[in-house]
Amino acid sequence: MKSNELLDKWSQSIQNTYGAPSLALVSGKGLVVKDADGKVYLDFLGGIATNILGHAHPAIVKAVSHQVGVLGHVSNFYAHPNVVELAQKLTSMTGDSDAKVFFAQSGAEANEAAIKLSRRTGRSRIVAAQGAFHGRTMGALSLTGQPKKREPFLPLLKDVRHIPYGDIAEMQRAINRKTAMFIIEPIMGEAGVIVPPADYLSAARDLCNETGALLVLDCVQTGMGRTGDWFGYEYSGITPDVITLAKGLGGGLPLSAMIACGAAAFLFQPGDHGSTFGGNPVTTAASLATIKYIEKNDVMSAVKTHGKQLMSELAMIPGVLEVRGAGLLIGIELSSVNSEKVADGLREAGVLVNTATASTIRIAPALIVSSAQIDSFIAKFRKVMNDVH
Ligand SMILES: Cc1ncc(COP(=O)(O)O)c(C=O)c1O
Repeated sequence: MKSNELLDKWSQSIQNTYGAPSLALVSGKGLVVKDADGKVYLDFLGGIATNILGHAHPAIVKAVSHQVGVLGHVSNFYAHPNVVELAQKLTSMTGDSDAKVFFAQSGAEANEAAIKLSRRTGRSRIVAAQGAFHGRTMGALSLTGQPKKREPFLPLLKDVRHIPYGDIAEMQRAINRKTAMFIIEPIMGEAGVIVPPADYLSAARDLCNETGALLVLDCVQTGMGRTGDWFGYEYSGITPDVITLAKGLGGGLPLSAMIACGAAAFLFQPGDHGSTFGGNPVTTAASLATIKYIEKNDVMSAVKTHGKQLMSELAMIPGVLEVRGAGLLIGIELSSVNSEKVADGLREAGVLVNTATASTIRIAPALIVSSAQIDSFIAKFRKVMNDVH
């Protein structure tokens, strides 16, 4: 089937939650994807920060193919080696010897698990950030600080208060001894790659220590090496009570995790939560292959170098007002409100990005992006910016 036919059939048979897709993709290798008409694109969005080793990475293909032929699924009545090995890897990344993991499939579910965990403190009040994105299920949507996404589905969870992101004084006013959890993204991704002040996370840690509120860091978009560290908060030197992960965790397969540290690791009791596919042998095999490849090839050093290169080169392009982010999660703020036009121009030129806001382009390429691919992206970006202006 060609692109037009696939896109028509999509609209006929798939609910219109996303709007019409712009492309129909059929294959990929590394950072290159091909559409149903045979046109190739340089993928600088990576499934929105998900395909962290690009498309069809041999290490993931091998691990998944092997695992599906050995043991494709087991219920959570039984353990299996992959889920144990992955949990041990993730808990060791936190540096907390008490840490324990709950596995699910999506970012929203990881955050749902965090909400339920926080209820086990005996408190129910939640503080979250204006503009934040934490998912679309009813609990996760209650945390999401974007009125347009929330309002059609009111009433949501009671007792959720949204405060301005990055504002320490507002945080101090909002969080108290009745607060069950304070949830924030280390960098707000969907809101346009917003980086908080350098002392924000440590101030949040201090306040949560004083009040007994759980500090939950949603690393769904900023986790698994995306910022040059395993978790997007590591630059701050703190340990949160809860970390949520998804997107890159499964290297492109649906896997998420809610990691609880310290005393929070002991809040859930048998029967408190569950998920049929959580910690599935195949998705955990993909995750282990991804993590081992990143470790063995020192991918995170390259993420830091390439991130700096991209940010400094993008900042010099006329029409770019500001470049924000960390590692390979980058928001490009344009001097005029035309990010759609720029994204469309890039797609025409064979490059995939996305528009986080009307004036912000977001890029989140695979962590294995090469210098040559960065050069090609920068050249195309410069040309499209020139054409659009
Ligand atoms: C920070 C953050 N949290 C949660 C989610 C929700 O993840 P999912 O779409 O897998 O439910 C997202 C998705 O973009 C996200 O960026």
